[in-house]
Amino acid sequence: MIIDTIRWNKTNVKLIDQRLLPGELKYVECFTDKDIYEAIKKMKVRGAPAIGVAGAYGVYLGARESKAKDIANFKKDLKKTIKYLAAARPTARNLFWALEEMEKVIIKYQDKSISLVKNMLFKKANDILKEDIKICRTLGKHGAKLFKKNSTVLTHCNAGGLATGGYGTALGVILSAAKKIKQVYADETRPVLQGGRLTVWELVKYKIPVILICDNMAASRMAEGKINAVVVGADRISSNGDTANKIGTYNLAILAKYHKIPFYVAAPVSTFDLLSKTGKDISIEERSPDEVRKMGNKNLTVKNVRVENPSFDVTPVKLITAIITERGVIQRPTRTKIKKVIE
Ligand code: MRU
Repeated sequence: MIIDTIRWNKTNVKLIDQRLLPGELKYVECFTDKDIYEAIKKMKVRGAPAIGVAGAYGVYLGARESKAKDIANFKKDLKKTIKYLAAARPTARNLFWALEEMEKVIIKYQDKSISLVKNMLFKKANDILKEDIKICRTLGKHGAKLFKKNSTVLTHCNAGGLATGGYGTALGVILSAAKKIKQVYADETRPVLQGGRLTVWELVKYKIPVILICDNMAASRMAEGKINAVVVGADRISSNGDTANKIGTYNLAILAKYHKIPFYVAAPVSTFDLLSKTGKDISIEERSPDEVRKMGNKNLTVKNVRVENPSFDVTPVKLITAIITERGVIQRPTRTKIKKVIE
């Protein structure tokens, strides 16, 4: 099952406005790099691989708008576009990876005409999207082998088709293992509710049994033996395996360790950041306090109370049972094992 999270639409990029789900399935059209920047920043499109794909199309749209008459000025325009798009969100490695891939195309064809570079950038963005779907399917197949019959699995945030080109990482594993999965527990995932809104929406669509729980309920479900495994996605993985993912992932990893439940991270190779030595090197996005203070327009607390709202946390590698990638499963990840698979 593939979700059309983000697609090329004749003259523009069409993407699902994920802020409106599950109430409304509405698409927005992006015609410029500014539209893509806004879509990423405001989380119309979210999830590490999906914002990578969006970023790639953003570079093409920026190239399309350039009025440069010679390749040197065209390159200058593109440099600005890439810098601009890179500032949309800081944590997901895939955005930066995709922008770097687009930059390689510019460098490769810098001796050619502007129109050829534009065509090659368009092709590359389409390839990144197509590849992502393929990669997630492969990753899903590798991950599915880790599950026994009648498994019950907990996931956090949304690492599904909506967070990628259409198939999903953690949910891709669950989809691929669907015949062996008796029950999925979905964490609600405060404050943006990606679990409650998006993961539940996807799992209902796939007809995979799902139970929604609030984030603070996982421990009690584990203690009662209701959860056999945890599988989550990732926004950035350091070279030692420390993993940044949606805030609350670290809590689950600690709980899983205490209850002797395997804790799996599912992510494509493009999520690894070999330049970051440990999780300490990962920049964690701080989002608006109103995400915590309010639900829609309704105040949930005392107006203007001080809030901290880190969007991600880092799970230390020692809490991770395995990292599932398209190149295979890295059991008990270490720097050496990661290097061998990723490089
Ligand atoms: O803030 P978001 O919704 O972009 O955060 C998304 C996550 O944390 C996902 O779990 C992660 O990107 C993996 S998506 C395949």
